[in-house]
Amino acid sequence: MAGKTGQGIVVIGGQWGDEGKGRIVDTLADNCDVVARFQGGNNAGHSLHLPGLSIVLHLIPCGIVRSDKVCVIGNGVVIDPEVLFQEIDLLAQHGVRVSATNLKIARNAHIIFPFHKLVDAERENQSESHIGTTKRGIGPCYEDKIARFGITANDLTSDVILHKKLSNIMRIRQMTDGAKRQAMPLSYDEMFFAARSYGEKLRPFLCDVGELLEDYLKSGRRVLFEGAQGTLLDVDHGTYPFVTSSNCVAAQASIGTGIGMKWMNEVLLVSKAYCTRVGDGPFFTEASAEEQDHFRTIGNEFGATTGRPRRCGWLDLPALKYAVRLNGATGLVLTKVDVLGMLGKIKIGMSYTSGARKGLSFQDAMELYLAGEMIDVEYQELPKVTSVPNVVEKISDLPNSLRVLCDLVEKSLQIPVRMISFGKKRGQELFITP
Ligand code: IMP
Ligand code: MG
Repeated sequence: MAGKTGQGIVVIGGQWGDEGKGRIVDTLADNCDVVARFQGGNNAGHSLHLPGLSIVLHLIPCGIVRSDKVCVIGNGVVIDPEVLFQEIDLLAQHGVRVSATNLKIARNAHIIFPFHKLVDAERENQSESHIGTTKRGIGPCYEDKIARFGITANDLTSDVILHKKLSNIMRIRQMTDGAKRQAMPLSYDEMFFAARSYGEKLRPFLCDVGELLEDYLKSGRRVLFEGAQGTLLDVDHGTYPFVTSSNCVAAQASIGTGIGMKWMNEVLLVSKAYCTRVGDGPFFTEASAEEQDHFRTIGNEFGATTGRPRRCGWLDLPALKYAVRLNGATGLVLTKVDVLGMLGKIKIGMSYTSGARKGLSFQDAMELYLAGEMIDVEYQELPKVTSVPNVVEKISDLPNSLRVLCDLVEKSLQIPVRMISFGKKRGQELFITP
């Protein structure tokens, strides 16, 4: 294709988030020049376990821990400036320098204000609107963006514009969320001055990130697009209304950074070798309470952002098939296979049934479930794995059950398994060349 010399690789969660995208991005970043986030905000929690540094990043792309990478926060991300600067300070304490040279922020990214967090928490406190959000103000901030009165990073850099937009948004929020407004912890003036001061701190980082990324790609550099949350939390395609408020699928990498889709060469779908979700909503392969305890203890399945225990279950192939299609995935990354090594027999969800209806698609099953129908899952069982070695250099080093699992997944999804991770540390992954 004329003018296309660089390469864009998109890393997407294939489940409900927490698939281990952070560590996969960290590994792949070694071979890339730029790492960009394109949706979500600090509802994300990307854990990294590097030599001498264990850290959870919520907003800044994982590439930041490599000093030769440029990191980008795209226009599709919603930014809580308080969290951003806390994260920059935390990184500095760990010896990672963040400056306007290695971090670029879209000037048109929207800003999370204290009232967004308040409204999010208030709704979560009411049973009618509770869905188990992270209470970080993500949904309300995207609401204001779509309603066309949101405030962007650039708006924080001007007294006149910020005053105009902040008073307007407060007037509208007072109409729609009047009662909550009364409980607002900050006055208008406090909020205005805090936001203006963040505006000045943000100013050096702000730019047209689409232009920047295209320049990199045109000159042959590789850009890694770091997805947050996961396909089944996508606001259009996920288990609505039990979803996040952004599009999490691969096409969003283009929209959320301002570059064309022609630059995306590869879409890697990341999936645990089992499955988890935090928050409410359908989860067809959810395990028994006893099995869930086991997963949670061995796999440390507690939210990296909220600390909530994650719901745990088995790999769900119809759901993953749906994710492969939605993302146009070119390859699969299977994470945490070592956890299966300590569990006993392994189950894989193969198909859904509801009453007399067999072989339901994920979307059909979801619609039926939300209408109150029961969904049964047919499983295939694989023999227990006694342990997964600490070093895996080739696929034949894996125990037989895990090799069978990879085969089964490849056959069912019709895409290759390109990478397997078998421990939380950097280096505990196996690349599989086709
Ligand atoms: P929100 O994104 O905070 O609005 O939460 C909406 C739903 O998405 C809830 O079920 C959250 O638990 C879930 N969620 C949001 N971000 C993540 C994530 O990074 N990992 C896993 N679940 C998430
Ligand atoms: Mg996470």
